[in-house]
Amino acid sequence: MSQHLLLLLVILAISPIPGDSQDSALSPTPEEPEDLDCGRPEPSARIVGGSDAQPGSWPWQVSLQQSGGHICGGSLVAPSWVLSAAHCFVKNGTLEPATEWSVLLGVRSQDGLLDGAHVRAVAAILVPDNYSSVELGADLALLRLASPAQLGPAVRPVCLPRASHRFAHGAACWATGWGDIQEAEHLPLPWVLQEVELRLLGEDACQCLYSRPGPFNLTFQLLPGMLCAGYPGGRRDTCQGDSGGPLVCEEGGRWFQAGITSFGFGCGRRNRPGVFTAVAPYEAWIREQVIGSEPGPAFPTQSWEPQSGPWEPRDENCTIALPECGKAPRPETWPWEAQVMVPGSRPCHGALVSESWVLAPASCFLDPINSDGPPRDRDNWRVLLPSRPRAELVARLVLHENASWDDASDLALLQLRAPVNLSTAPRPVCLPHPEHYFLPRSRCRLALWGRGEPAPGPNSRLEAELLSGWWCHCLYGRQGASVPPPGDAPHALCPAYQEEEEAGRCWNYSHRSLLCQEEGTWFLAGISDLSSGCLRPRVFHPLQTHGPWISHVTGGAYLEDQLNWDWGPEGEETETRTCPPHTEHGACGLRPEPAVMGVLWPWLAEVHVAGDRVCTGILVAPGWVLAATHCVLRPGSTTVPYVEVYLGRAGDSPLPQGHQVSRLVISIRLPRHLGLRPRLALLELSSRVEPSPSALPICLHPGGIPVGASCWVLGWKDPRDRVPVAAAVSILMPRLCHCLYQGILPPGTLCVLYSEGQEDRCEVTSAPPLLCLTKRRSWVLTGMALPGSRELFAAIGPEEAWISQTVGEAHFLPPSGYPHWPPEGSDLCPPDMASAPGSPQAAVFLLLLTPLMQG
Ligand code: ARG
Repeated sequence: MSQHLLLLLVILAISPIPGDSQDSALSPTPEEPEDLDCGRPEPSARIVGGSDAQPGSWPWQVSLQQSGGHICGGSLVAPSWVLSAAHCFVKNGTLEPATEWSVLLGVRSQDGLLDGAHVRAVAAILVPDNYSSVELGADLALLRLASPAQLGPAVRPVCLPRASHRFAHGAACWATGWGDIQEAEHLPLPWVLQEVELRLLGEDACQCLYSRPGPFNLTFQLLPGMLCAGYPGGRRDTCQGDSGGPLVCEEGGRWFQAGITSFGFGCGRRNRPGVFTAVAPYEAWIREQVIGSEPGPAFPTQSWEPQSGPWEPRDENCTIALPECGKAPRPETWPWEAQVMVPGSRPCHGALVSESWVLAPASCFLDPINSDGPPRDRDNWRVLLPSRPRAELVARLVLHENASWDDASDLALLQLRAPVNLSTAPRPVCLPHPEHYFLPRSRCRLALWGRGEPAPGPNSRLEAELLSGWWCHCLYGRQGASVPPPGDAPHALCPAYQEEEEAGRCWNYSHRSLLCQEEGTWFLAGISDLSSGCLRPRVFHPLQTHGPWISHVTGGAYLEDQLNWDWGPEGEETETRTCPPHTEHGACGLRPEPAVMGVLWPWLAEVHVAGDRVCTGILVAPGWVLAATHCVLRPGSTTVPYVEVYLGRAGDSPLPQGHQVSRLVISIRLPRHLGLRPRLALLELSSRVEPSPSALPICLHPGGIPVGASCWVLGWKDPRDRVPVAAAVSILMPRLCHCLYQGILPPGTLCVLYSEGQEDRCEVTSAPPLLCLTKRRSWVLTGMALPGSRELFAAIGPEEAWISQTVGEAHFLPPSGYPHWPPEGSDLCPPDMASAPGSPQAAVFLLLLTPLMQG
């Protein structure tokens, strides 16, 4: 309110100024009379990183509106002409009708019309014939007003440069507009016109910046007729809604329009200056359009000689800006680590995100009793930053609006009373833009966050490695959910890290932040929200969705572009994929991909029996491994052996992406079968094994033969080095199996046929399992080898009831597939089956020739 009054007074106080200038260098050229004065605002007198413009300082700035709303900027170049950008008016290749547009002149803030402000209808919109899209240039338009603008203190034309005009590289020019003040953040009420000082960048300097991959790995080729302005370091720029507006440079007391806001990559990003349509090259086109209109735009001659001077330095060197955030001066230094000391509670760990803002969990400051607001004694709060002699005082606390009910938004920003100098020790951490994609296998650290306690041991910032998005999303996401592709914000981030091995030991309070490194720069990638118990499960809330909120509150946090775009040769991560079925106990049978080094079989366990032999085991639930009874318990032996289970091993070494885990077996359970010796044994582990890429339960096949699945026998070739190998097999139809073995097989036996050359890939004394990959990409356990046989397996399905009763969390998939069991009697078998010579293949071949097969 008071601001408007002031504005009005300022404008009313303005008196008309003399029309001509004292400066002879600026007078119109003799051969071309100029009757229009241009480029002179009243002597009294965003854009990203800009500030409010003073009333009357940019009297040529206009707002181009459609249905009463601001769409683009423009500049008054003559009483009846406005210059703007073509892309404001061309939608899907067609020019929008002039009647839809109106031009608002003489306004500073858009919420009220002030003295001298007026509106004009548009009579015609003219766009160069060769305009097609912004990146291809010629992004300019001329609008002919239905009636001339009323020139006055608040409405004056800008000067246009001649084709020969050279603007000095490095010149400080100004861009103005009512566009967004950050990416995806509109200019707030009362929409005061923003101005920002931008430096003209030489063509080479700009091309050099745009030749380096930026957001989305994009590079860009500048074209003639384009001009760049801004800073290698970014932070000051035009943005959405500024298009069509002017970039003006002052020369000898007049303002010339050097450029028209055209486009950019994001707004204010590092090494991505704004791209403008250069006006000078379009002198001829502009003159042509305005022919016969009096007075037309003014093209004053340049006041100094373009042949000499600083404006065209030849080899302009290329100044690339490096990230200002996330740099540790030495390894193992964390210059953004902040501790907020609130009297009466434990220090709260957060991170410095700009000169004056610290990000920390809101839960540190939310008073559970007085939930209406944070504690009032903020004067007594202190923030400790690395290498600062004294603690900082806190000026303000801004809680995230969802902080109290959404764990992923448990965030607060604290403003320091005095900003710190970033050139030295405290440095902010980088924050990811919403589209940031942290590559699988990124090197990360888990740092203290909130009221966490240091981890036991020498390294309180646990080393971690990011797991594939598919694996993480499907482990914690819903079945059938589609995995967010790179460029879409992920729902979860999963780091793999060495778990605290000492049984039962874990930190009593495990809030952690996830810091990930790209090209030596650290990003705050996520936060965990575990309020009790061990640091499990391994899921973090991505921070990238909060980037806009943090920029909005701080106005200057360091959101940094992705620095590593190496998606690997197959680009496998870029495919859209959906999650395989989950059971009621969550995800099972997910094999981490891509398996870079070695093959990962996260459910494959080594079962070491009393130190003398090793059997194959399969993790079926966090605390249970299934194995073949004959391998674990020696026939005739009555004592329960000492058994240890290892997961996450590939032979003698731990898996590259995972971590080795070992557990003692505290009990061995067998099903009760009358007569028959039980074939499957369940081993109960001393403690649970939490999901990780190297230890994840498999799904269990409920019965029948999985249809459309591909199956393998998984074992090892050499019982000494135990490097996992998989041999491809087909499971035979029950009748085939029955006939092949002349009906001597006990019920619940599966027979397999090895693919060519795969027979002797695995040795059999360790009792390898039979696994299938279903069409929906879950791995299911279908059987365990029978003693001494390569081809016969005890089916899992018939033991479903026993397994489910013993192991509450066993992952049985819903029934599907072919019924297992052969028909009663064997009279359907071909007569010579038993005497079939040679291999089972030969027998099967024989069988296939008989006309008895039915569908
Ligand atoms: N194309 C935008 C508009 O229509 C202007 C974007 C300018 N962006 C930049 N980063 N300089 O308003």
